[in-house]
Amino acid sequence: MIVAVVGTGYVGLITGLCLADAGFRVHGIDRNEVLCSRLNSGIATIHEAGLEPLLKRVLRREFASFTSDLSVISEADMVFVAVGTPTDERTGEADLSALRGVVVEMAPFLKSGVTVVVKSTVPVGTNRAVAGILREARPDLDFSVASNPEFLREGSAIQDFNHADRIVCGVSDEAARRKFTALYAHWVARGTTLAFTSPENAELSKYAANAFLAMKVTFINEMADLCEAAGGDVEHVAALMGMDARIGRSFLQAGPGYGGSCFPKDTNALVSSAAKLGVDASLVRATVAANESRKRRMAERVIAALGGVADKRIAVLGIAFKAGTDDVRDSVSLELLPRLQEAGASIRAHDPKAMSAAAKLLPDVSWHESALEAAVGCDAVLLLTDWPDYALIPPVALAKTMRGKHLFDFRNLFSAAEVSAAGLLHVSIGRGADVGGGPLEIESAPQQQEGAAIHLLGRPVREFAPQALEAAPSVVG
Ligand code: UDX
Repeated sequence: MIVAVVGTGYVGLITGLCLADAGFRVHGIDRNEVLCSRLNSGIATIHEAGLEPLLKRVLRREFASFTSDLSVISEADMVFVAVGTPTDERTGEADLSALRGVVVEMAPFLKSGVTVVVKSTVPVGTNRAVAGILREARPDLDFSVASNPEFLREGSAIQDFNHADRIVCGVSDEAARRKFTALYAHWVARGTTLAFTSPENAELSKYAANAFLAMKVTFINEMADLCEAAGGDVEHVAALMGMDARIGRSFLQAGPGYGGSCFPKDTNALVSSAAKLGVDASLVRATVAANESRKRRMAERVIAALGGVADKRIAVLGIAFKAGTDDVRDSVSLELLPRLQEAGASIRAHDPKAMSAAAKLLPDVSWHESALEAAVGCDAVLLLTDWPDYALIPPVALAKTMRGKHLFDFRNLFSAAEVSAAGLLHVSIGRGADVGGGPLEIESAPQQQEGAAIHLLGRPVREFAPQALEAAPSVVG
């Protein structure tokens, strides 16, 4: 089977390379010629754990190549469309213009019997609309349109592709179903579940999954506020909630608010497409509003704790929206740093991977090669991204280099006890003033403790993606 993937951004690239690695011949197509030639030379165009070796491997075996020439589509049995569907700022809806444009452009090249797979995240009804566009452009063509949403997390996308919880295939005919069965046989043989449903259900399930996860994060953030007010510790509360198998431990890490290329975009799109259908998605709407207000409040919290930030020097550790990626899209940092600058602060920043992407978006920030260098002479250190290496910085080393005492740890990465022992003020998330900061104590057989109560230096060990750990270069400097 020959596969074409149109759009070699994040999703298209990972999908194409993983399919090629399983032995399918893959044509990656992107209108950006520079991107194609870099990929053909084995240069990874995004930071993603394991990407470069995977790219080099499939190029060497000649299972993948990249081009801007759409005519290669004429060879493909399956054409994946993985172009962006960003938020339309006027309406909050997903902007489908790139998707529609690509479908029109590729229509003349499609071969008879082809299955066009919508990989992009799209509102319910889009697959049907794509089929309509194709029917109009190619009344002669025998084709099917199918939905195959992705659930890849940045930073662990290759791992997620190869060990998916499920592969969702939204099909409306037997031909598409048979092709998906053949395409994903490699993964099914290794235990992955292949789920067939209608294209509409597949489209809805993607938005529903992301909205639910965004809501889960927002929920624990709300509990963090409650813990702060009531004298609790959100790390304990999350661990205890997570021991309930119905709830689960993942996505209960309190922080400064979610960001990234998916949660903000997909929650907004779900709210708009629900409204269009006359449904008030009030829970998701509340999630969006709570997350926006949280991001704003994080800046106010820093300003209030420092008694104003005019002429204060603040070191920011972490600009990417989460660890393991160089992506800064909708990162909390993009909202928080300008707000602190407006209030008079000067910012010195570090991120292991995202500095060049961020420098274009965050003017008047001084960028530093290591976290400790960024902290030199600062009144406060503000940790925003959960890069695991930041947890290895001895607070005493920060204390020596800073001129102030505040360590705003908005990912609860540092040990409260070590920070206090270093003479710093630890401002973490979801811990009330009266909290002692001791570890959660569990008495049970070792195998039952897994994932719930493992502790390191008195704080819970977080669920970092192993790739993020490997990928994070030393930041201690
Ligand atoms: C997400 C989905 O997880 C993935 O399935 C989908 O395909 C794309 O969107 P991604 O955007 O890469 O993936 O990041 P994710 O790991 O889900 O984190 C999203 C945001 O939530 C980040 O800002 C992260 O820091 C935050 N988050 C996540 C928390 O604050 N706490 C958590 O417990 C989990």
